[in-house]
Amino acid sequence: MQFNWDIKTVASILSALTLAQASDQEAIAPEDSHVVKLTEATFESFITSNPHVLAEFFAPWCGHCKKLGPELVSAAEILKDNEQVKIAQIDCTEEKELCQGYEIKGYPTLKVFHGEVEVPSDYQGQRQSQSIVSYMLKQSLPPVSEINATKDLDDTIAEAKEPVIVQVLPEDASNLESNTTFYGVAGTLREKFTFVSTKSTDYAKKYTSDSTPAYLLVRPGEEPSVYSGEELDETHLVHWIDIESKPLFGDIDGSTFKSYAEANIPLAYYFYENEEQRAAAADIIKPFAKEQRGKINFVGLDAVKFGKHAKNLNMDEEKLPLFVIHDLVSNKKFGVPQDQELTNKDVTELIEKFIAGEAEPIVKSEPIPEIQEEKVFKLVGKAHDEVVFDESKDVLVKYYAPWCGHCKRMAPAYEELATLYANDEDASSKVVIAKLDHTLNDVDNVDIQGYPTLILYPAGDKSNPQLYDGSRDLESLAEFVKERGTHKVDALALRPVEEEKEAEEEAESEADAHDEL
Ligand SMILES: *[C@@H]1O[C@H](CO)[C@@H](O)[C@H](O)[C@H]1NC(C)=O
Ligand SMILES: *[C@@H]1O[C@H](CO)[C@@H](O)[C@H](O)[C@H]1NC(C)=O
Repeated sequence: MQFNWDIKTVASILSALTLAQASDQEAIAPEDSHVVKLTEATFESFITSNPHVLAEFFAPWCGHCKKLGPELVSAAEILKDNEQVKIAQIDCTEEKELCQGYEIKGYPTLKVFHGEVEVPSDYQGQRQSQSIVSYMLKQSLPPVSEINATKDLDDTIAEAKEPVIVQVLPEDASNLESNTTFYGVAGTLREKFTFVSTKSTDYAKKYTSDSTPAYLLVRPGEEPSVYSGEELDETHLVHWIDIESKPLFGDIDGSTFKSYAEANIPLAYYFYENEEQRAAAADIIKPFAKEQRGKINFVGLDAVKFGKHAKNLNMDEEKLPLFVIHDLVSNKKFGVPQDQELTNKDVTELIEKFIAGEAEPIVKSEPIPEIQEEKVFKLVGKAHDEVVFDESKDVLVKYYAPWCGHCKRMAPAYEELATLYANDEDASSKVVIAKLDHTLNDVDNVDIQGYPTLILYPAGDKSNPQLYDGSRDLESLAEFVKERGTHKVDALALRPVEEEKEAEEEAESEADAHDEL
């Protein structure tokens, strides 16, 4: 849960900056560019007379359109002599009907037409000119290129910007079910990678045996990765490509974050301030990255642009460079302590400990209070488990955020509840009423979906935490602790008689709602 929230926050941190830079660029391509402006009158004839058209539906005022405009212009410039591929723009503030016809809901929307006005496909590439060009060029090619000559294949690999996925066919290949799989996967991933099928005898000799085809993922200047999984079906092949295609030490930003997050394996970040630092880190990190491929992803993060992300990882963005491993499954963060300058040795040691399962997570926590100043017990991240899992006590915890309105409104009733137990010697030895500021303290394995979240951990039965969903008044809370707690202490019975009426009135006015995270 917490993790979903992290993705949104991070994505917005990582994209805000890029957008800010776009303000002085134009969304509309200049007249002398190679971007074609289409109108209601010209649209159909242009689309049907060109095999592949990338069409941008846009509005001149939109920020993302302003950023994209110059990228389209330079892509169109690169493609100006290509007969197969054209780039066009439709201004939706002028061509309202045309845009409605394609159900354009946001700007910019990019669609790819293949000689027909019906059923365009959605553009799925990145929005930089080079990516636009290679995406569109691939639209005009078959999904797999057949390249038999060893030299041609080597050249293709050397020139490729993305990894090349190669099917190596031995001369007498007989069972070609895997060929169908390969073509199927190529059809869906053609935008991201180049797919090649080869009968090169050099490759066949090196990578195949027993008349079985081999599958390689090759990056210029690196040894190929060879598919060695079990049976080759589409799911396995796609998964393998996803793992192997990640660079050993890539950079994380708005465009790559999602693919790292979705990999759902630990993500190790090196926050750098300049290229020198990055290069030095790459030297020590790459060997680990190679060995841990598919188990841990390693990335660099440009702290000048995205340093704020450090606090999501319980690290201090002011102390750079920094290194931290985020276990995406447990949401624990393992960072090198920042009391001294980061060294290569620190990085190596943390990675080794993490792999061995011996690293200690950095728990975000306020200091443990020396004395409890209020009747409501102030709980902090570091002391959470010790207090909550005290088998001798029923422990009720309110997980809250300081800004949350519902939390503030229930505070008086909660204090009153705590006071009733605290003022009675026997009750105070059996029941703890606690609160934890979740914005300052991490807790493990507690499902906090909104604020406040109230959970009772019954004495002697700590594996059965009880989530409170009643109304937030003294009576209901007291009833809950009595009913669900192991000690069955009745706080209301501890109440001085004359207070009863007042409390009842208060109870009626309590709202029962959550502030969302
Ligand atoms: C590659 O070789 C195979 C058989 O050896 C042949 O059928 C195919 O046409 C060749 N492809 C190209 C592009 O030369
Ligand atoms: C692989 O499949 C493609 C697409 O169906 C086909 O054109 C090609 O001839 C097949 N190659 C082999 C070696 O079977």
